[in-house]
Amino acid sequence: MDASVVYADLNLARTREPKHASPPSLPPDTCRCPRWHRLALKLGCVGLILLVLGMIGLGVLVLSLLQKTSVGVIGGEIGEGIIGDNQENNGTKTTESPAKLSCTKGWLPHRDKCIHFSQESNIWKEGLADCATKGATLLLIQDHEELRLVKDSANVKGSAFWIGLNHTWPDKNWRWINGSTLSSDVLQITGEAKKDSCASISKDRVISEDCASDNMWICQKKPTLVPETLCPDS
Ligand SMILES: *[C@@H]1O[C@H](CO)[C@@H](O)[C@H](O)[C@H]1NC(C)=O
Ligand SMILES: *[C@@H]1O[C@H](CO)[C@@H](O)[C@H](O)[C@H]1NC(C)=O
Ligand SMILES: *[C@@H]1O[C@H](CO)[C@@H](O)[C@H](O)[C@H]1NC(C)=O
Repeated sequence: MDASVVYADLNLARTREPKHASPPSLPPDTCRCPRWHRLALKLGCVGLILLVLGMIGLGVLVLSLLQKTSVGVIGGEIGEGIIGDNQENNGTKTTESPAKLSCTKGWLPHRDKCIHFSQESNIWKEGLADCATKGATLLLIQDHEELRLVKDSANVKGSAFWIGLNHTWPDKNWRWINGSTLSSDVLQITGEAKKDSCASISKDRVISEDCASDNMWICQKKPTLVPETLCPDS
């Protein structure tokens, strides 16, 4: 009788003991092995999140660097990064997104051309020659919108400007310097057209003037191709 009671007490004590030792929240059978699994999972998740964040950060960095370089600011590190990137994309990149077209300093971008207003005055032929030395020609006015722009600029500058239009003889035609005759729906010319008449533009009209008069002039040229990335070659 005595022995059986003692045995039962011991048994109770044993079965209670392990329950106390194990953490109350975890069922005893999922306790050891899954703890490592969870740890590994957590570490993996944290790693993955860090990786994604890192990649996003890198992307933002690269984007901002690209923007900086397109504005023309290149630090040593940035320059290296861009060159590496450029070598990778050579060929494909240049054909997909062509290098930027831009106007050199002092030239006004307008659609597919760059426009320059001279500072000095001279006869029409000298204006023609001056534009040629700049790799340009006297202005050819394509449409009303361009006419408007040039008139506005002439207004602001307060003078008249030669354009690439003169009265040719003996055919008695107003002819653009590219050889085309003037079509009257783009612009009308005020004043008498004589043998040596050239066209100048002022704030409100296009005038026929003696080609030997002095005027400022307007040159136009194609935008220059500026490479997408500014490699510090110099
Ligand atoms: C890119 O390609 C051009 C020819 O398409 C080549 O002249 C130039 O050296 C190349 N540049 C680089 C960085 O690979
Ligand atoms: C010459 O220029 C005028 C004025 O911009 C334009 O209308 C005409 O199409 C041009 N002609 C040629 C052959 O390019
Ligand atoms: C008119 O322009 C043409 C070039 O387009 C030139 O050959 C010719 O000499 C000019 N005429 C005058 C009177 O300047």
